[in-house]
Amino acid sequence: NKNTYILGIESSCDDTAAAVIHNGVVLSNVVAGQKIHEEYGGVVPELASRAHQQNIVPVVHQALRKANIDKKQLSAIAFTQGPGLMGSLLVGTSFSKSLAMGLDIPLIAVNHMQAHILAHFINAEEQTAPTFPFIALTISGGHTQIVKVTDYFEMEILGETIDDAVGEAFDKSAKILGLPYPGGPLIDKYAQSGNPLAYPFTKPKVGDLEFSFSGLKTAVLYFVERETNKNPNFVSENLEDICASIQYTIVDYLMDKLKNAVAITGIKQVAIGGGVSANSGIRNALKEAEKELGWKTYIPRFEYCTDNAAMIAMVGELKYKTQQFSSNNLVAKARMKL
Ligand code: KG4
Ligand code: ZN
Repeated sequence: NKNTYILGIESSCDDTAAAVIHNGVVLSNVVAGQKIHEEYGGVVPELASRAHQQNIVPVVHQALRKANIDKKQLSAIAFTQGPGLMGSLLVGTSFSKSLAMGLDIPLIAVNHMQAHILAHFINAEEQTAPTFPFIALTISGGHTQIVKVTDYFEMEILGETIDDAVGEAFDKSAKILGLPYPGGPLIDKYAQSGNPLAYPFTKPKVGDLEFSFSGLKTAVLYFVERETNKNPNFVSENLEDICASIQYTIVDYLMDKLKNAVAITGIKQVAIGGGVSANSGIRNALKEAEKELGWKTYIPRFEYCTDNAAMIAMVGELKYKTQQFSSNNLVAKARMKL
């Protein structure tokens, strides 16, 4: 049972990914992104599903080749059952079922949101994992969720967004500023040389541990329209300050929620994941919280923050050890509880 090779497959949104993990160490981690959505300024579900169908076989082949193993050496197939886009999930689910059946090895269903959190346990020797209990904040283009984690599979959602995800707030604001999709990283880039206090935006008021971002998007839209009416070059002349102000508002809002979670639970270990954890503003704010508030904070390597299959394989390995296998007639779930 010690020499396990788990193949992980992820297809919940717009990335087709496969990875092989061997005793907690990632041997390969392949991701095929989908450029096709760029011109639409967001993920188009039908196109995503079709691209997954085209990508999944080559991506899995590449993951096996890079790991330098034969498919006959695999111990189990772990795949994302949900949550996500139904058409996308179906591709990974049916492919994984067939492969597991063909190889006559166990099939392991993985919850994508659990995987983002358990990504902290990948490659334990090179990145320090948090110890239980800890607070996890998952922030990406699809998710914004604060979770209390007491064990690998004991998680409780403390709060989540009631409308847009934080990555959407970045991307939609960027779109209003005329920046290409996904605009989050560009807002971050321009924000570096701007004044974060130049344009104050109000932070949406919801429950202590809940998030709301749709109001911010509207506020940015009205603000840009108003200023552009006065000065048609307003955005280009003030891009850095606008980006810095938007980013400051979002980061401050995320930190408010984390501070609330720490105060309510008394847990000072904070682990973040998801694509938005790349943001320099949140990274700096967390470093400051370590110094000022005595927190311990954790961010996985970037390739394990964005959607990837290494995290799916990691959960697969944890479930393999405790024999949490799935039956071959299980179905994909667009909505799935943690
Ligand atoms: O995890 P991810 O790759 O995919 C999912 O959405 O699941 O996250 C992508 C999101 C996008 O909204 C992107 O704009 C945002 O993460 N993002 C950033 C940064 N890097 C990626 N947002 C702000 N600052 C960044 N540096
Ligand atoms: Zn994700």
